[in-house]
Amino acid sequence: MTGNTPDRVDMEKIVSLCRRRGFIFPSSEIYGGLSSCWDYGPLGVELKRNVKEVWWRAMVQERDDVVGLDTSILMHPRVWEASGHLEGFTDPLVECKSCHQRWKADDLEGDSCPSCGGELTEPRQFNMMFKTFMGPVEDDAAVVYLRPETAQGIFVNFQNVLNTTRKRLPFGIAQMGKSFRNEITTGNFIFRSREFEQMEIEYFVKPGTEEEWFDYWLEERVNWYVKLGIKREHLRFREHDKEELSHYSRRTVDINYLFPMGWAELEGVANRGDFDLSQHASFSGKELTYFDEETKEHIVPCVVEPSVGVERPVLAFLCDAYDEEPDKDDIRVVLRFHHDLAPVKVAVLPLSRREPLVEMAKDAYAGLRKCWTVMYDDAQSVGRRYRRQDEIGTPFCVTIDFQSLEDNQVTIRERDSMNQIRVPVSELQNTLAAKLAGEDLFVLPPGGQVWKVEKE
Ligand code: GAP
Repeated sequence: MTGNTPDRVDMEKIVSLCRRRGFIFPSSEIYGGLSSCWDYGPLGVELKRNVKEVWWRAMVQERDDVVGLDTSILMHPRVWEASGHLEGFTDPLVECKSCHQRWKADDLEGDSCPSCGGELTEPRQFNMMFKTFMGPVEDDAAVVYLRPETAQGIFVNFQNVLNTTRKRLPFGIAQMGKSFRNEITTGNFIFRSREFEQMEIEYFVKPGTEEEWFDYWLEERVNWYVKLGIKREHLRFREHDKEELSHYSRRTVDINYLFPMGWAELEGVANRGDFDLSQHASFSGKELTYFDEETKEHIVPCVVEPSVGVERPVLAFLCDAYDEEPDKDDIRVVLRFHHDLAPVKVAVLPLSRREPLVEMAKDAYAGLRKCWTVMYDDAQSVGRRYRRQDEIGTPFCVTIDFQSLEDNQVTIRERDSMNQIRVPVSELQNTLAAKLAGEDLFVLPPGGQVWKVEKE
């Protein structure tokens, strides 16, 4: 991670907006919070669901060569012996002999405790998997682990998926779900936590073709971010040195993002070779191979793995969308989310709380919410309501005024330009659908007109 990011939004601004507007709260806050655990509020849960939804749609549903899977968090303890996590998923830690605080040995500069100056123990390997007990008896036989990655659920189901889908190489299996790591150093808001969600693809390929598929997936994943609004110059690759490779990896490249605290890992693409399938075959005694019709041989496929948490893209999308611009004597804060990510797609704003205007507004609201997440807001001036929607990234506001009662037309205001058009109520839904799919605001439906142009 490097500092020095003058053009980036401050993390405090993101944290404060997330809290104030109900995106993200500290977990168990009324009890003082639980370190590095976070709760997603009404807007945060929509944003997070949208991130997962666009990933699943692009990586699974729109592809012929990837299928989905949803495996359990608790797995047979032998899985973690075979995968190497029991032995290899460790960090060297030292403990202060006076205050008993633990530190990552790699992060320490001197040889005394950074907190109290006390003497430190020799480094010891500390496993990052959370242990728990299955069943009523807390003995060793019942020890299970909360998975530290979703990938292993995919590897142990390789044969099940192959047998039931008859997929040919190359093909991938995708899964998203919670993972847990007893991280020593957490922080930077939701960037590194102990409970998080992952979205992973294990892409099985013929041995010898891993490198070309590796390049393919790096490009594919970067394109996904850029399509969803991340600036290309805020992304870059970082190749892992041999010494830092995970125990299963032959090659890893991180896709780094320019977070407010500096460049840091957003996603990793790894060449896991045949490590996992071979290990599970040997530990389980089951054959985990693929019959190659061309060579008439059973082979162990190699794996290219694009793996990302959900929270890091959520943070990256928030940071890249955040914008402030001068607005008369004030500052307009806007989250310029890609439409697919915006937690609320449309806000319905009646100009008054009087009938029959309210009835018309409620009718429009009832119709639109069948299609999208829609908010109804009738409190305070319309200007303040626009600002509230800008701040949470709502792409379009629909305003219903007294003239609407006479001409059956309503105003649509676009978040980014603040330009407005006026359209017949009968065209409202179709028009919004087209605009949400990316159509220019000034492409008008029958009977529509340009209403207000902010910047000519
Ligand atoms: N299956 C491979 C794997 O888990 P990883 O690099 O350890 O590889 C993959 O993790 C991704 O999961 C990271 O790029 C990051 O997006 C996310 N991730 C890992 N640890 C995390 C943590 N403690 N908090 C939030 N996200 C995390």
